Amino acid sequence: MTEFAELQAPTASKESVRSHWEAETCGVRPAATLAADRAAFFAEIEHVRYQLDWMIPQFAKFSEAHGKRVLEVGIGAGTDFMGWVRAGAEAHGIDLTDAAIRLVGERLAMEGANAQIARGDAENLEYPNGYFDIYYSWGVLHHTPNTERAISEAWRVLKPGGQLKIMLYHYPSVSAGLVWLAQGLAKGKLVSPRSLYAANVESPGTRLFTRREGRELISAFSQDSVEIRTHLGSGDLLDFPLSGRYQGRTWQTLQKIYPSRLIKLLVGDRFGTVMTIAARKQ
Ligand SMILES: C[S@@+](CC[C@H](N)C(=O)[O-])C[C@H]1O[C@@H](n2cnc3c(N)ncnc32)[C@H](O)[C@@H]1O
Repeated sequence: MTEFAELQAPTASKESVRSHWEAETCGVRPAATLAADRAAFFAEIEHVRYQLDWMIPQFAKFSEAHGKRVLEVGIGAGTDFMGWVRAGAEAHGIDLTDAAIRLVGERLAMEGANAQIARGDAENLEYPNGYFDIYYSWGVLHHTPNTERAISEAWRVLKPGGQLKIMLYHYPSVSAGLVWLAQGLAKGKLVSPRSLYAANVESPGTRLFTRREGRELISAFSQDSVEIRTHLGSGDLLDFPLSGRYQGRTWQTLQKIYPSRLIKLLVGDRFGTVMTIAARKQ
């Protein structure tokens, strides 16, 4: 087994990934207290998302999708998906969970908008070859057990010249270091940061990719067109409500005193968790 395969072997079943995200749709936590007022709830989800993940609009370039056929994989709470819809794209969205499809269905109905959404699996797309102009997926494909297969499905459903735009978690990163300190070293466990990430961050089996591994994943795409960037994200800066797993007093104190400005200044985007990858199918 190569070093890449050893480090990257999937460690969780798709069913365990699905049940994790059925329990809490990604991105709704900061708006939980507003759940009774649906317009305020969705507005808050959107506000917080683009405050934290400020790089999304410039990466996705929603307005350029007008009139194009877009597939978003792993729509979650649907904020980016609404970006494609509002831009006038022919938007198709899938997610592994019923919870996401229900939520985005509600959101589309509230805006009187029309789009195709359905439960679906990134690793087995139910679309013909060469169907889409844009394939977009933010923060999803590191959760599916076989990321490689999902990327080959993305390639298959894109038209020649079609664009791939994805975000995967990057390694090495500040967040991987934090997880290693908290879940490994502090507990006397000498385990690799990647294994600890898989066991302790978001759904079971979360994977991390180096830039080189990111490039390998998309080797079937036109190599001249590849753009890979890394950014510090909320997992590196601890600037978002932590999940139930990280609610102890130590974490709350750490979040209060966390030197995020210093991290931005001294560490910078090179060790950020957010890795955007854009490429074209030849
Ligand atoms: C971290 S959330 C990201 C959601 C959204 N893209 C966002 O940025 O807020 C991960 C989402 O990917 C979905 N997901 C995970 N594996 C998937 C798969 N194989 N196919 C489709 N969706 C998947 C989950 O159900 C979940 O909604």
